[in-house]
Amino acid sequence: MRPRDLACLLGALVLLAVSATLLAGCGGGSNNSKTTTNGQTIPQNASVTTGERLFRSTCATCHTLHAAGSTATIGPNLDYVQPTVSQTQQTIAAGMHGSRAIMPAGLLRGQNATDVAAYLAQVANRANVRPNPKESP
Ligand code: HEC
Repeated sequence: MRPRDLACLLGALVLLAVSATLLAGCGGGSNNSKTTTNGQTIPQNASVTTGERLFRSTCATCHTLHAAGSTATIGPNLDYVQPTVSQTQQTIAAGMHGSRAIMPAGLLRGQNATDVAAYLAQVANRANVRPNPKESP
């Protein structure tokens, strides 16, 4: 191997190492989440806009949520619950048997479940819960 080729090879290796480090920095740790005005943590890659659309089409039939303008009382008032992202993801995956009604498991999957969970974490707020016996937890 000629010295010039060797230098090239070494240069390429250094570049690879640097970009691997940069990529690792993007993927892991606290870099991939952000904090909402509610003080909740949501994934950086979640789309709150998509989450809102999905909430209106999939969840609003059963849940009250001020931000979405829904007033259904089959499930709990989600402004009152103020669920974290992982709480909503787990509830969507496993479903939930309440005392009066059932939330079916697997209503949404993958990124869709993450998006709706991020939306809830961002907008659900106990300050929006109005005195209403039907909504009381
Ligand atoms: C068919 C009605 C129905 C639909 C549709 C529905 N839910 Fe529920 N949900 C429920 C019921 C019932 C419970 C449990 C109530 C109880 O514990 O008594 C519940 C509970 C929850 C909880 C509370 C979990 C906890 O820790 O207390 C969250 C969060 C939730 N649902 C989010 C969602 C989201 C997000 C969607 C849309 C993807 C959705 N739900 C769709 C009926 C529904």
